This record gives sequence, structure tokens and C-alpha cells, in this order.
Amino acid sequence: MVRVVVRNWRCIEDIEVDLGTVTLLIGKNSSGKSSLAYALYFLAKVVEWKDANNVLKHLYGVDLDGVVRVDGSGKRHYPIVIEVDGYRFEAHGKDRVESPRGSPWKSSYLLPATRVALTKIMQFVAVFARELLKRPESRAALPFMYGLFELVKNVPLLPPTYFFLEDLMRLYGITQYHKVKVGDLGALVEMFSPLIVLVSYEYTDLFTNIKLPLHLAPEGFIDSIIIQRFVERAREGSLVVVEEPEIHKNPLWLIDLVKNIVRISVERKLTLVMTTHSDILLHAVAKAVEEGRISPEQVSVYYLYRDSQRVWSRARKLKVYEDGTFEELPGVEEVVSKLF
Ligand SMILES: Nc1ncnc2c1ncn2[C@@H]1O[C@H](COP(=O)(O)OP(=O)(O)O)[C@@H](O)[C@H]1O
Ligand SMILES: [Mg+2]
Repeated sequence: MVRVVVRNWRCIEDIEVDLGTVTLLIGKNSSGKSSLAYALYFLAKVVEWKDANNVLKHLYGVDLDGVVRVDGSGKRHYPIVIEVDGYRFEAHGKDRVESPRGSPWKSSYLLPATRVALTKIMQFVAVFARELLKRPESRAALPFMYGLFELVKNVPLLPPTYFFLEDLMRLYGITQYHKVKVGDLGALVEMFSPLIVLVSYEYTDLFTNIKLPLHLAPEGFIDSIIIQRFVERAREGSLVVVEEPEIHKNPLWLIDLVKNIVRISVERKLTLVMTTHSDILLHAVAKAVEEGRISPEQVSVYYLYRDSQRVWSRARKLKVYEDGTFEELPGVEEVVSKLF
């Protein structure tokens, strides 16, 4: 288990949690699930990039003054503290920052809730590039494709889009793109070919076996592919944050996906952190425990909550047992009483 402390970060005043190989953050909207998960990714990126405000520009489109906890009177509550396994980030002001020298992770990947939409945009760009290549007279437009990426990098469009793109490129070994000359089309196409292959990946219809291009696949399928590829290809010992893996999926697909990614996370010694609104996800992880794919000690489940008395996020640990049962999920009665 990896010990985590987060203080004065968005809606978190002071939270301590232990991360397992697989960690679930469950709770109502705005309970602070993503804030907690992004704090981990932020720490890993600060180690890599050094400049905390620049990381935040791409993560949230703001600087430290925008993520420090602000109360009802508008007061900012520095210091921000994010400590993971003894690696500590501390900020006493926007420009008074102490960053850690390392993090527990070899690399880090963020799968934001917008990932399917972003993949669709990439498919659009790939198809556009392919059509351009077919027409020699329009090749002059290609450098703009490259320019588009540079633009996303310098102007934080729709944060955290840039991180998703960069993590995806790293996943496919595309790391030297800065060095390719904008005019060198061959080198550019070669460099980006793994991504073009990914976005032009064929999809096989489950019932008829006919092959269709990936852009015709159901969104749940596309999302499952994205999540699975990241978990399979992430460097061993990495952090992988997945927001709401249940998006677009029937419970049956979600259960199969969870089965796979839990197994791979154990094999590849990942720290897989998932935020969710789905109790099916919790059941599926518990099932993986029951089937012996993962031990209960490697699973960490937290229920995050806030209310009008206690306005800052709290995290309550839920026990998962060897036999695949778990401590009752809070909040269920409230749902039942609204429905019946
Ligand atoms: N700097 C800040 N200070 C205080 N609260 C913040 C700050 N930034 C965001 N918030 C609040 O934190 C919550 C963010 O929740 P989030 O982590 O996205 O929740 P979830 O993922 O559980 O839906 C929102 O209610 C938002 O208003
Ligand atoms: Mg969220």
C-alpha cells in the first residue's frame, strides 16, 4: 500500500488514503474523486516537468491559486500538500513551491472522462491526414497538422487534452516529435504511424464477425480499447488514472473489462486509480478478489463524501474481503428512498 496525504487541494482540506494496486474512488458528484486522483497525477508530472504552474495550466487551465482550497469567503488556504509514499509536494503560494525529487512511479497516464471524444477528434485528424496524403497538391497543408499539436501544447485547449495526447504518444513510443522538421513529411508520417494505426484499427462486429473501421464501433467498445491499451502498454510500475471506466458500457462489458485490467495491473505492478459512480465496478473488483486475480490487500476502496455541515471532502475506507464481499456502500439507502 502506498500512503497518500492531500491538503488544501480543491475541495480537499485534509485527506489520507492508502493506494493499492487497484484503487476505487466512489462517491456522489463533486465529492472530490477526480480531485484526489488528479492530485496523484499532478505529483508525478511535477517531478517530470518541474514547473507546477505549467503542469496545472495543462491539467486544469489555472495555476496554483486556482487549485488551492478556497472557502466561502474567498480565502485561499495554503499550503497545498500532496505527499505520496514520502515524496512531498508543498506550495505556500503560487511562486513558493517545494517539489519532490521523485515519485513512486516510473511513468504516469491520465485517462480523462473526455477520452472517447478526444479519440474521435484524433480519428478525424487521421482521416483528414490520409486524404491529404492521397492528393499531392494538398500536401502543403500537412505541416498544419503538426502545428495543431504544437498549438494544443502551447495554448491549453480543453485541459487536460494535452496530457491525454502526450501520454498516448508515450504509450506508442512517440517521444522525439519535437526533433522532426516540420517539412519532413515522411518522418512525420512514420513517427505518427502507430497512432494512425490505432485510430484506423478495425473493429469486428461481435455477432456477424464483419470488420468495420473503428470509428463505426460502439463507443463502449472504443472506450474499452482505450483503457485496455493503456493498462497493457503502460510502463511497469506506473500510475494509471482512469476517470469513470463505466462510461458507455453495459454492466456486462464493464465486468469483462475490469477482469482484464485488474489482472494486467497486478502483472505489471501498476497503481490503477479509478473514479466511479458505478457500484457494478466495485462488485467486479470484489469478484476479481474472490477469483484470486488480486488479493484483498492489493485493493483499496474509498467512499468520498461532503455535506452541508462538513463541506470539505472526506474519505471513508471500505473493506473488501477474501470471499468477494465488501463493507456496505454508503449512500445506497438515499438512492432507494428516492426511487421507492
Ligand atoms: N480551488 C477550489 N477550492 C474549493 N473547492 C474547489 C476548488 N476547485 C474546485 N472545487 C470544488 O471541488 C469539487 C470538485 O470535485 P471533483 O473532484 O471534480 O468531484 P467528482 O470527481 O467527485 O465529481 C467541485 O465541487 C468544485 O466546485
Ligand atoms: Mg470526477
